[in-house]
Amino acid sequence: MSKSKISKLSRLGLIKVITKRLGAIHKGSKETTKDLYAYHPNALARELHPSVQHLIVKEIKPFSNDMKSFILAPDPELGTERLAWFSAGNYLSIAAEIQGKVFKRPYSIASSPADTLEGFYMITVKRVDGGIVSQYILDNWQVGQKVTASAPLGDFTYERLRDASTVIGIAGGSGITPFRSLAKAIYEGDESCSLVLLYGSRTLADAAFSDEISEMAAKCDKIKLVNVLSNEEKEGCESGFITADLIKKYAPAGDYSIFMCGPQAMYNFADKEIEKLGIRRKFVRHELFGEYFHPERNADYGGNIEDTFTLTVTIAGVTTKIPCNANTTLLRAMEDAGLNPPSDCRSGRCGWCHSQLLSGDVYVPASVDGRRMADKIYGYIHPCCTFPLSDLAIDVPPMPKEH
Ligand code: FES
Repeated sequence: MSKSKISKLSRLGLIKVITKRLGAIHKGSKETTKDLYAYHPNALARELHPSVQHLIVKEIKPFSNDMKSFILAPDPELGTERLAWFSAGNYLSIAAEIQGKVFKRPYSIASSPADTLEGFYMITVKRVDGGIVSQYILDNWQVGQKVTASAPLGDFTYERLRDASTVIGIAGGSGITPFRSLAKAIYEGDESCSLVLLYGSRTLADAAFSDEISEMAAKCDKIKLVNVLSNEEKEGCESGFITADLIKKYAPAGDYSIFMCGPQAMYNFADKEIEKLGIRRKFVRHELFGEYFHPERNADYGGNIEDTFTLTVTIAGVTTKIPCNANTTLLRAMEDAGLNPPSDCRSGRCGWCHSQLLSGDVYVPASVDGRRMADKIYGYIHPCCTFPLSDLAIDVPPMPKEH
């Protein structure tokens, strides 16, 4: 197909073509969809990667009013008998219906993979200033709450072939959760790497899971925890911020990987420090989930943050016009308008919100621009990390059933 034909092919058009071709294949082979689904590999794939998991809150463990852990078990009443397996570092995309609108947010799984066999995941939610979903969960979820979640997703996981055998973890705030999972997986013998965790908090009292990880570290020489406190001095802890010198102090001789998870401000600081270390790019990994705020702080931003534009959205053939502020991602504007767009990672990584830009100008911050070259050539964007610079028209894939 020529470039011009491809660029004119809408997502809906593509779905129609695929449906037509599948129909022809089934007719020709006399196979029914049901038969194909019954194949063992397909059944196994569905169990490992279910499109949706129905969960129920079994227990709530509060750290404070602003941070709580939720123990989530399968909800057989709604058809989830067992939890999908995962690797330490994966996240769940949780859907919350708030005032008739569906919002989805990614939360790292803080429990270990072995806990899944015991029948539970744990996620930890911290209140975010201006955050709709964290606020709603912390103030409303009770034991017995039904929860709709995705399968475990994401690539913030240890890979022996890619990563060095020692991981230096840099955590801030609720960014501790994937490291709590990794530390427990190492402790339980399910991960082969060593973990040196540099955990930045204002005070030791703010450092959730610190006691628990310290206990594991005391019994397992593959885990080391260093609390780095910015607002107090405490014996046995480092003071200040996570600098290149501090990383060097605790890094092993030879190669090591750096995994970072925390707020955007932490990345802005830590990225510059890590640059000074001159380590290979493949050894530096970020967990980027979460909303991108303040595009105007980037030197290459060419818009006016005060502007409001008209966003013309087509989802499954239905077109709607909605307002979108210059400082709001297209995804957030669609959610605020109750359009229920697809999303999982919210950081340009999973591709789930991949949409066609039909007209208008956009700004995509380089650090969350996960588009391939073909996406840029043929005009595709990820609305989760795209900001408007003019009135826009986009074609969005419909939310798949059961997602
Ligand atoms: S939600 Fe993952 S790329 Fe947009």
